[in-house]
Amino acid sequence: MSVHKKIQKMTAPKIRARKGAEPLVCLTAYTTPMARNLDDTVDLLLVGDSLGMVVYGLDSTLGVTLDMMIAHGAAVVRGAQQACVIVDLPFGSYQESPEQAFRNAARVMAETGADGVKLEGGAEMAETVAFLSQRGIPVMGHVGLMPQSVNTAGGFRSHGKDFAEGERIRQDAWAVADAGAFSLVIEGTVEPLAREITEMVPVPTIGIGASPACDGQILVVDDMLGSFTDFQPKFVKRYAHLADDIHAAAEAYADDVRSRKFPTAEHCFGAVRAVRVVGE
Ligand code: KIV
Repeated sequence: MSVHKKIQKMTAPKIRARKGAEPLVCLTAYTTPMARNLDDTVDLLLVGDSLGMVVYGLDSTLGVTLDMMIAHGAAVVRGAQQACVIVDLPFGSYQESPEQAFRNAARVMAETGADGVKLEGGAEMAETVAFLSQRGIPVMGHVGLMPQSVNTAGGFRSHGKDFAEGERIRQDAWAVADAGAFSLVIEGTVEPLAREITEMVPVPTIGIGASPACDGQILVVDDMLGSFTDFQPKFVKRYAHLADDIHAAAEAYADDVRSRKFPTAEHCFGAVRAVRVVGE
């Protein structure tokens, strides 16, 4: 008899089946150690193209490449046994045609081992969402504030305040869900609209700056941990202050090295001659 505990792996169909049940817990992750730390706590890990800003120091997500997404996607998959892992398709890798989207999404699936991909866009992407879903690639949609469209959408701002914009986002959400997306990220969108969309679509909505009305929540992990402090959007809650901890640890290390308190004999191979500790 096997004594190994069976791992319950979260998949796109299982995420879809959670509509209206217990809220879905989602975070971004970009590396193997972070995936290992989060894996047994979250339902879904998103390898977001936010890595362009958070990991690579870019001003927007537009410079992120497919190769970057594949390298980080594979790293996260190596660290995740339970969570559903979804990888963002970066700007320029899917907007041209459903065929281009399939070619690149298939590379992501084959080279990372992820459970699905995410792409931004509404009605104009519905054909692509259907093309991918019908050919074996689970797709997560993304409507409302779409960072890859920041240059045409007038910057990073909340969406759905006026009727016309609200109506467009409602139609976008419906089109993507109807095309076969297994879930839908709603970003930076006013509460009444996020609530209405959540009640309207048959798949789980995952909110970021879109109120508790959504079926689940996602945050950029470095925002949540306080390790990315360039700016703090209104919708972020910090559960730790890692930037402060990192700075304090680096200062303690620097003090130890400069005063020869580190390394000590316990950190060395072979016999160590006594060194004079600076200041003693
Ligand atoms: O790129 C990303 O991290 C995202 C989340 C903010 C949803 O798309």
